[in-house]
Amino acid sequence: MKPVRKAVFPVAGLGTRFLPATKAIPKEMLTVVDRPLIQYAVEEAREAGIEQMIFVTGRGKDALEDHFDIAYELEAVMKGRGKPLDALVGTRFPPGAIVSVRQQEPLGLGHAVWCAREIVGDEPFAVLLPDDLMVGRPGCLAQMVSAYDKVGGNIVCAQEVAPERTASYGIITPGSRDGRLTEVKGLVEKPKPEEAPSNLGVVGRYILQPEIMEVLANIGKGAGGEIQLTDGMAALIGRQPFHGVTFDGDRHDCGDKTGFVIANLALALRRDDVAPAVRAFLAEIEG
Ligand code: G1P
Repeated sequence: MKPVRKAVFPVAGLGTRFLPATKAIPKEMLTVVDRPLIQYAVEEAREAGIEQMIFVTGRGKDALEDHFDIAYELEAVMKGRGKPLDALVGTRFPPGAIVSVRQQEPLGLGHAVWCAREIVGDEPFAVLLPDDLMVGRPGCLAQMVSAYDKVGGNIVCAQEVAPERTASYGIITPGSRDGRLTEVKGLVEKPKPEEAPSNLGVVGRYILQPEIMEVLANIGKGAGGEIQLTDGMAALIGRQPFHGVTFDGDRHDCGDKTGFVIANLALALRRDDVAPAVRAFLAEIEG
C-alpha cells in the first residue's frame, strides 16, 4: 500500500460570507488567535506525514503562498534587532514542498480537487478544507492515516451533525461499525433532512485513491450546479474500500461567523499566554 505523501488544499473560494474582512485577503488568512486558518491545516497535514502541500488557488490568493515562503526583509530586520524568529516556526518550507495550481473557474469542490491531478499523479492523497479547524491529539488527519494503514482505500472524516442541518453536508449511508470506523455504503451531497439516509456527515478531511480523478473528469454537475467531490466519491463505493473515521477531538466550522468566533475563544482558552486574561474577562461578563 502506497503511503499518503501529498495533500490538496482547495483554497480558491471567494469567502463572501466573511465580507468585508475577505475583500482584500483570502479567507484562509483569517486568524484564529495568532495564526491563519491555512497554517492550522498545513500543520495538521505535516504532523500526519504529508510531504507536499498542493494549494488549489485562484486570483487574489497570493498571500497564502507568501505565508509559507521566506520573508527575507522581515527576518533580516528581526535579526538586526536581536529578536527571536520563533513566531515564524511552521511557516518556512523549502522549494517544492508547497506548490499551487489555479482553479480558473468556480465549478465546485470536485473540480478543485481535479485541478490538482497532474501534481497528485498515481498515488493516494489527502484533501483538507481549511474552513474546518480540527483540534485533537493526534491531529485529525493523523488519526485518519492510522485508520488508512489498517483498511486502505478511501477514508472520510465522519461526524454526527444536527438532523436539521443535513443540507449543509455530504451525508453517509452507514454500514457496519467497528469502534471509530464506519463502513460507507452510500454518499449524498446536501440532502434535505427528510431525504437524508442518516445524520452522519462528512467533514473537511479525506484520504482518496488516485482513481477519483478519472471519475471527477467525467461526472456532471450535481447539487448546486457544481461538480461535487461527494458524487465522485460515491462512484468509488463498491469498487474500493470506503470508510468513515469518527475523529476524537473538536471541530470548529470556521466557514461560519459564529463557528469562527467560537474557535477563537476555544483555542485562546488552550493557550497559556492568553488563556488567563480571556478566562478572567469571561468570568467578569458572566458575573
Ligand atoms: C463541502 C462538501 C460537503 C462537506 C463539507 C464539510 O461543503 O461539499 O460534502 O460535508 O464541505 O465541511 P461546503 O461546506 O464547501 O459547502
